[in-house]
Amino acid sequence: MKPELGVCYYPEHWPEEMWAKDAARMVETGLTWVRIGEFAWSRMEPTPGDLRFDWLDRAIEVLGSAGLKVVLGTPTATPPRWMLEKHPDMLAVDAQGQPRKFGSRRHYCFSHQGYIQECTRIARIMGERYGSNPHVAAWQIDNEYGCHDTTISYSQAALRAFQQWLEDQYGSIDALNTAWGNVFWSMEYGSFDQIDLPNLTVTEPNPAHVLAFRRFSSDQVAIFNKAQVDVLRPLTDAPLLHNYMGRILDFDHFKVGEDLDIATWDSYPIGFLSDRLEADEAHKTAFLQQGDPDMQAFHHDLYRAVGRGRWWVMEQQPGPVNWAPFNPAPLPGMVRLWSLEAVAHGAEVVSYFRWRQAPFAQEQMHAGLLTPNDKPAPALSEVRQTADDLAQLGPITQSRADVAILFDYASDWAWQTQPQGAGFNYFRLVFSAYRALRRAGLSVDFLSAQDTPEPGYKLILAPGLATLDSDLEHRLLQGCDLAILGPRSGAITRDFQIPKAGRPGLSGLNCNVDLVETLSPNVHRTVNRGGAARHWIDRLSGTAPDLLTFTDGTPALKGTDGLWYLAGFPDEHLWDRVVEMAAAKVKLDIHPLPEGLRRRETDQYVFLTNYTAAPINWNNHEIAPCDVVILKKNAPQKG
Ligand code: GAL
Repeated sequence: MKPELGVCYYPEHWPEEMWAKDAARMVETGLTWVRIGEFAWSRMEPTPGDLRFDWLDRAIEVLGSAGLKVVLGTPTATPPRWMLEKHPDMLAVDAQGQPRKFGSRRHYCFSHQGYIQECTRIARIMGERYGSNPHVAAWQIDNEYGCHDTTISYSQAALRAFQQWLEDQYGSIDALNTAWGNVFWSMEYGSFDQIDLPNLTVTEPNPAHVLAFRRFSSDQVAIFNKAQVDVLRPLTDAPLLHNYMGRILDFDHFKVGEDLDIATWDSYPIGFLSDRLEADEAHKTAFLQQGDPDMQAFHHDLYRAVGRGRWWVMEQQPGPVNWAPFNPAPLPGMVRLWSLEAVAHGAEVVSYFRWRQAPFAQEQMHAGLLTPNDKPAPALSEVRQTADDLAQLGPITQSRADVAILFDYASDWAWQTQPQGAGFNYFRLVFSAYRALRRAGLSVDFLSAQDTPEPGYKLILAPGLATLDSDLEHRLLQGCDLAILGPRSGAITRDFQIPKAGRPGLSGLNCNVDLVETLSPNVHRTVNRGGAARHWIDRLSGTAPDLLTFTDGTPALKGTDGLWYLAGFPDEHLWDRVVEMAAAKVKLDIHPLPEGLRRRETDQYVFLTNYTAAPINWNNHEIAPCDVVILKKNAPQKG
């Protein structure tokens, strides 16, 4: 597969006379894909039923005949104002019971049947018109489900759908009362229509109620997406995709991804460092203009799994964004580094957001590849350079990694529902495991907790899995030489009860959680000979050997042949020790890396990316600041 570059373009923002020149300039820059249409509903249908596709016909023709492949978006993330006249109750409702207003985007409730019908109607009209257009080479459905906190809605439509969902899940109200433990505080229901949504309760609602609502809300996203898939599939042979966001875990991306051909996501390294990553100030300062060295790669690897191998970056940050608390510019070289790093992780396409900075509305401070008055922005030349790099590299293919992480969206919902200790967070825990693998220079795959891993992994990390399905242990053991679970694994049933068989309930590891403690963020429990655990401690007993102990003598890591259990949330030093011990056990070569240097293997190359502002010398390779060295396997060369 030869990786390609693309760009997001909004023809409706610019006079038609500019389109042909823009298209020619995109081609000159080395771009081959252009994404359009995903927010243009008010121009496709200014009033109900008044369809105006002539401009879009011409835009597709101009872009396509310049040699660009078009990704066409369905515009359902931005319902126009008239939609509210037709469906006044379609707005999502927040936890305080307030409807979320018109005036930005994503102002719809996933459960609103009238809005879903409007979405399938516009998708059908577009599919019939462009489904076999030779220039339309992929379709994007909606945009960034869940962004702006939009997965969950406490609307009447959601309430009705939730009651039905519960009836389908539990069959009888007695079964639900028992499963949720509603005898506690006299919360028993007499019928499904008595059950409300879990907001505005006096104190915390029953966690079983909340988790059920989170599962339901996730299912609604998948159903919403599938409604458009079902319309478009028969009308086009082009691949269907959705464009996801970073660190949004409110719905099960694997489930949405099952109905699609490609997963794409939006990579804003500098914005993410300041607005969605827990890190100390020194780290944030060191990587202020580069982004965190692992955050992008984490999502690349996760979305490769969501897309079952097929994934893109749909929106790559090209300069300062507008939405983070602070918006510094990338250091020179970073746009190229981010792009090549994505390719190293298997991206088929890296597409930049956006072609030209808009001089109006919400994102007027968001950089593009061109300034609002059409001058090249700093990223433009780096994109051209990246296109040249890709031409030199030729096809890049990925083999599976030796190491995988099991990822489970529902565990995030569970631990948000009942954190038990401030600072314990599923993403944080999994990300800390991922970072440790990357510090060891390893390439990593992600797997869904529902997957049966194909045998052959040397090591699988499955931290913090809330519920261990009865066959998960078996699937893990079949798939790898060593699986590491814990902390907080198998801690609840699907209905949020403590499992009767005890925690974590692994048959192959004699290890029980007798007591759970959480620690305030500044307290660490030290491990003998180095490292510490924080946030969460499972006090372990059982005959499985102690592989590591805390200084108070209690187990920090227990394990038998193929299965280890970690008692706490490891700090960096402890993770490094655990990875090293595991690697030694399963005969896995590790390549410990200095801070800010990262390594990723493809079938043809080893990519070394230097996220720091200083040169790094590693294993006789000199990697300039913000640069990438690409080594041809078996024959070193500078990239
Ligand atoms: C993304 C979104 C784009 C644009 C961009 C700005 O989340 O998909 O439409 O808003 O952010 O960085």
